[in-house]
Amino acid sequence: MPAIEKLGATTRTSPLWSASEVTVIFVLGGPGAGKGTQCQKLVSDYGFKHLSAGDLLREEQDRPGSEFGEMIKSNIKEGIIVPMEVTIQLLENAMKAQIEAEGEAWKKLFLIDGFPRKLDQAHAFERTVVPSKFTLFFDCSEAVMEKRLLQRGETSGRSDDNLESIKKRFRVFVETSMPVVNEFESQNRVVKVSAERSPEEVYRDVQAKFRERGVEPITIKFVKTA
Ligand code: ADP
Ligand code: C5P
Ligand code: MG
Repeated sequence: MPAIEKLGATTRTSPLWSASEVTVIFVLGGPGAGKGTQCQKLVSDYGFKHLSAGDLLREEQDRPGSEFGEMIKSNIKEGIIVPMEVTIQLLENAMKAQIEAEGEAWKKLFLIDGFPRKLDQAHAFERTVVPSKFTLFFDCSEAVMEKRLLQRGETSGRSDDNLESIKKRFRVFVETSMPVVNEFESQNRVVKVSAERSPEEVYRDVQAKFRERGVEPITIKFVKTA
């Protein structure tokens, strides 16, 4: 994935793409709600490309020579939101690379997972990159998310899948990220799904709600040959 050398994206005065050129669905929910799990399913059925803001930040954190590596590392461990200029530049670079790699045939459909986590990110992304279509929000109690994260922590190797970091991440989610969901909700731009059932049941609900919003899976046509 391309590194970030220049942070120019958020200084633009108009979006790089229009919503008719590029479709972006934001995917939000507390830590451990199952965003990544559901995105994987949507990728195979709908032709989306999945970009996780957290994954892009971890990649930049580990990139030798990155001037942002140390800052990202300490923010992730503490559950603090990384300054939006960095995250938006990483997303924009990844989107450009994906569009270039896929060529003209691809419909330019992105699931942007774990973003926007703060109002300034939401406003800056929609003003300078592309307005989103809607936000898919996974609703899940802290007790369920805590259990899932501790279990994930047994194998994830993530510096923030431990009880101390998890508690901090929950606080940041309530105080900083929920205002984003509430703002989009007030604009009727949120698709809310309960994330407490099995992954398959959650996914069935996601598919039904996507259909209501006019988002359909890829249909494969079988052509009968003689
Ligand atoms: P997020 O990306 O929202 O932090 P993940 O998709 O990584 O969440 O899921 C967190 C953990 O919970 C993972 O170990 C995943 O396998 C598990 N998980 C995801 N969805 C469910 C579900 N519906 N029921 C039980 N476990 C789940
Ligand atoms: O989404 P994920 O759980 O992978 O995010 C891990 C961490 O990455 C967050 O707790 C936060 O420190 C950072 N992050 C961020 N801004 C985002 C997404 C993630 O600062 N939009
Ligand atoms: Mg995730």
